[in-house]
Amino acid sequence: MDNKIIVTDSASGKSIELPIQHGTYGPAVFDISRIYQSLNYFTYDPGYQVTASCRSTITYIDGEKGELYYRGYPIEQLAEHSNFMEVAYLLMYGELPLTQQSADFTKIISRHSMFNEGLKRFYDGFYHDAHPMAIMIGVVGSLSAFYHDSTDIYNPQHREIAAHRLIAKMPTIAAGCYKHSIGEPFVYPDNSLSYTGNLLHMMFSMPTETYQVDPIAEQALDLIFILHADHEQNASTSTVRLAGSSQANPFACIASGIAALWGPAHGGANEAVLRMLNEIGQVEHIPKFISRAKDKNDPFRLMGFGHRVYKNYDPRARIVRDTCHEVLAKLGNSNDPLLKLAMALEEAALLDDYFIEHKLYPNVDFYSGLIYKALGIPENMFTVMFAVARTVGWVAQWMEMIAEPTRRIGRPRQLYVGPARRDYPKEAVRE
Ligand code: ACO
Repeated sequence: MDNKIIVTDSASGKSIELPIQHGTYGPAVFDISRIYQSLNYFTYDPGYQVTASCRSTITYIDGEKGELYYRGYPIEQLAEHSNFMEVAYLLMYGELPLTQQSADFTKIISRHSMFNEGLKRFYDGFYHDAHPMAIMIGVVGSLSAFYHDSTDIYNPQHREIAAHRLIAKMPTIAAGCYKHSIGEPFVYPDNSLSYTGNLLHMMFSMPTETYQVDPIAEQALDLIFILHADHEQNASTSTVRLAGSSQANPFACIASGIAALWGPAHGGANEAVLRMLNEIGQVEHIPKFISRAKDKNDPFRLMGFGHRVYKNYDPRARIVRDTCHEVLAKLGNSNDPLLKLAMALEEAALLDDYFIEHKLYPNVDFYSGLIYKALGIPENMFTVMFAVARTVGWVAQWMEMIAEPTRRIGRPRQLYVGPARRDYPKEAVRE
């Protein structure tokens, strides 16, 4: 027998039957869009904990089992067999590319890797000590002023070109943020290199010396980028969709996603993990910090632990944990005191009753920062690296949303709890 959701307002006696929709996996949803017209109620779900904001075919997460699929492919298989460009194609177009499609896509992305020379002057407006995320938000937002020939969101070709441009230019923009902060000249992309190889080249080479991309670093970055490419309707992706729902151009939408990513509860966590490890300082201090994390009167949280959706081990954390050890061993950093501290903290938290009861496991960012550090990437660039990888997911989600025939502007409602109507005082009685 088909189950039904019937909502009855006991005050008026009115009832409404809510249609149920089933997805491929995950809990079914009931459609509340007629509830206001029928019963004169809104629904209340702060933080969208149980609200599906869209239908999507891109990414699926089973938080209880700790599973993540891109277009149906398990993340473990993509991490083992695929590469970031192929994953980008998969997320954007829905299928793995054929050999020729893969070569064509990689070529298109590399052909768009330079940005307009005028954009360089934007960087000069930022102080050398500006946070690279602040620079990135500004520079990406300004792309719409340079590439307005691809901002007609109703034209599928414009949408595709804008998506290609965004994916292609992000490494160049990210490297520009880094070079600006250390006062070195910008390095042009080298289209003979891979996506991540090019990013390393633009960050670490100088016009005065030859630079060889380290294949270990290139591969580790490619893997981290695969793991970060998409994560369904998280805060930054929902921000991109919400901005896009108002028909804002794609460059502006992605800039808003970068802003949402910056916070320490989201993409800023990888940077916050390193700050926290430095603050903890040594293994002996771990119990004190674990107690602080459990104390409700202390705002301190263990950065890199917990996740809104995963109530089991983050599958990306499992993959990146092994890579973290391999990379550090290969680069000769396996005795890094920070890594030892991180492993001791992980072990202590996983054995702690509070963390067990609250199902708080290390997330991907607990480890990604340690790898970035081993690759010589400074802490304030960690979230920038995340933004480069996540741009692929953002553009795929944006394209899916724009192509939706029933698209409407995103406009949440509220429960107003402010003052009741009152009159402006006639006399000056406000001193
Ligand atoms: N340390 C200590 N306690 C924690 C932590 C943590 N890292 N995370 C959650 N808790 C506790 C909360 O205090 C709360 O306890 P209570 O129920 O006794 O009050 C409970 O676990 C649930 O926490 P919420 O904040 O309600 O969970 P939510 O799903 O809203 O938050 C979040 C998820 C923001 C990721 C949270 O776990 C957190 O702040 N983690 C640290 C930051 C971090 O690593 N963010 C990266 C996320 S992954 C990513 O963006 C790629």
